[in-house]
Amino acid sequence: MSVRGILGAFIIVFSEGLILQGPSGPLHGKLGGVLQLPCSVMHPVALDELEVEWRRVDSKALVHLFQGGERRPESQSYEYRDRAHFFTTAEIAKGNYSLLLYNVTVDDAGSYICSVFTKQDSSEMTVEVETVGE
Ligand SMILES: *[C@@H]1O[C@H](CO)[C@@H](O)[C@H](O)[C@H]1NC(C)=O
Ligand SMILES: *[C@@H]1O[C@H](CO)[C@@H](O)[C@H](O)[C@H]1NC(C)=O
Repeated sequence: MSVRGILGAFIIVFSEGLILQGPSGPLHGKLGGVLQLPCSVMHPVALDELEVEWRRVDSKALVHLFQGGERRPESQSYEYRDRAHFFTTAEIAKGNYSLLLYNVTVDDAGSYICSVFTKQDSSEMTVEVETVGE
């Protein structure tokens, strides 16, 4: 294979690099506590071409959205308004799309999908949440 052919092969591999990383098992949220819902990529995406959407699987409620280089709290479903937050923009720029969920309630138990879209690619991952009493 020529040098050019080898380079071409590497470029193909890296363009398919939108691999989401999350927890290996269900998360246990303490009622009234704060829970981190992890979702991240190894190779960060430019913020202006990034969209991250967190949704509940059952109700399809929008937990949080990052789009057009900004957080979109106005589009959050009322159950999650003021309770679900991304980390800092610096963390999002590093590929850390995790959410912090405050004041965990029994209704927060369930499956959540973290979906990530770029210009060329998209990927999604499911995170399970179980709640536990104090
Ligand atoms: C969490 O609940 C407490 C008590 O109900 C309330 O004062 C506080 O504002 C809530 N925090 C968030 C982030 O919702
Ligand atoms: C995301 O950022 C938070 C806050 O800095 C940190 O606790 C967490 O470990 C980070 N997650 C990843 C996957 O880098």
